Amino acid sequence: MRKGQNVFAGRSLCVVNDFSVDEQLYLYEKTRALKAALTGGGEARQFAVADPTLGVYLIFLEDSTRTKESFRNAAKFHGVKVNDFNVQSSSFNKKESITDTIKMLYGYSARSMFVIRSKLEGTSRWLEDSLGVYARRNDRDPPAFINAGDGKHEHPTQEFLDEFSFLEQLDWSNERIHLALVGDLCHGRTVHSKVDGLKVFGEVHVDLIAPDELALPEHYESRMTANDFQVRRFASIEEYLSQADVATIWYFTRLQLERMGEEVLEKAPMLRRAVTFGQQFLPRLPEGTKFYHPLPRHREFPTIPFFLDNLPVNGWDRQSINGYYTRIVEIALLSGTLGQDFEGEAMVRPAYLDDFVEEAVVQDGAPRDYKVGIKPVENGIVIDHIGRGEDIGEIWDHIDKIRRIMRLNHRSSHGVYHSSSDRVFKGIISLPDILEFDERQLKMLAAIAPGCTLNMVKDSEIRKKYRLHMPPRIYNFDEISCKNENCISNPRNFEDVRKEFYRSEKSTFVCRYCERPHNFHEIWDV
Ligand code: NCD
Repeated sequence: MRKGQNVFAGRSLCVVNDFSVDEQLYLYEKTRALKAALTGGGEARQFAVADPTLGVYLIFLEDSTRTKESFRNAAKFHGVKVNDFNVQSSSFNKKESITDTIKMLYGYSARSMFVIRSKLEGTSRWLEDSLGVYARRNDRDPPAFINAGDGKHEHPTQEFLDEFSFLEQLDWSNERIHLALVGDLCHGRTVHSKVDGLKVFGEVHVDLIAPDELALPEHYESRMTANDFQVRRFASIEEYLSQADVATIWYFTRLQLERMGEEVLEKAPMLRRAVTFGQQFLPRLPEGTKFYHPLPRHREFPTIPFFLDNLPVNGWDRQSINGYYTRIVEIALLSGTLGQDFEGEAMVRPAYLDDFVEEAVVQDGAPRDYKVGIKPVENGIVIDHIGRGEDIGEIWDHIDKIRRIMRLNHRSSHGVYHSSSDRVFKGIISLPDILEFDERQLKMLAAIAPGCTLNMVKDSEIRKKYRLHMPPRIYNFDEISCKNENCISNPRNFEDVRKEFYRSEKSTFVCRYCERPHNFHEIWDV
């Protein structure tokens, strides 16, 4: 990809947050201009990449009509090389990894862009990482990746066309939006992407309409609240229309039966009823209401029934065509054709400071805490305050985990005790044979038992004391893995992905690829 002032050039688009709010607004502004030019017979050449050395690869490992065809048409608009990779007859059937496949395709063009849809969550992010390393090693510019939907995770380019369509309905005002999300909020990645995509609006009101079985997963809802969205929940359209404050923008999704377990499938007819719009509801809609849907609709059981197609409430047809325009602009941005006049705040990747070790004050040198049932240590390390304040069973579990994961097969003792000061339970491990932990061991310990303290004892005196906090980032340990079986980094998917987690609020570790939150002890395999 071309380098220079252009902040978009050479980047990938794996999740909505890969574009800052200003960058998203810039995308909408450019799309609006492009759409006006193309529909009004104006000049659109300035939007085109027109570089036959750029290869755009469509790699769809899950079915698609709109996303794939709009990308294909968008790439054709640009006059670039368009390659439709035939997944069905490819070496995926010979169990080739996606990383190997992409490395090979990357060799065929001077510049490449991969549009990837996969059931495995985080696929684009992983490929961006690994092909980035591969490109550097081969002294080439890295390829760009566009996530065209990954499992239940995200669908950023659908999100951008959705927001563009909402803005179009709101006459391009991004001050406030009131949106109803209806249908399968549990499995729908287009809904999950709304958690970040709606941030382009100053004030956001979201009404979630879904029975419990299809409800938005808790971590997405809490992120909405953290983003200052006003969120309300309703179990059915009937319940929603029985109160006065009804949105004028409704976003429907189909029931994603292919992603549901047996127990939920059995209830499908009942769940469908709760989120299917009926003729009787029409008079209860506010003036000017528009319905949207990422499509496809189920032809037998559409949540937006066909009788609505020719009524003014139909916003989904225009929305679907908008995908062509937004995707033209996305290709133009990532390839460096548009973006030179962008003046807003660009996306900044977070920096992770390894600030998890804090030196604490040594009270008076005497290791008096460790006399209860544990032989006083003359020289060595005492790990104290393990799981402090937790349930006794959990504290034992932490002790066990620390010993096994860190392979502390030394002379030592351990136990669960009261704090001398406040009678709260905590775990202690004393290690008379160990005088030091290295950075890696410290990080490991901090991630297994955040909040614990390390006491370095010499000649029966505590010489130094450290408090360990959850590390902001944890990676490169063989003993950690993402527990989402649909994550590209899950060992069961054999893509040999480097595991990596970030600390988020509420003391959770979020997987770098699928962004699934994990409780801090969940990431460990042993
Ligand atoms: C959606 C998808 O694939 O996530 N469709 C799309 O991209 N237009 C929604 C769906 O499949 O129901």
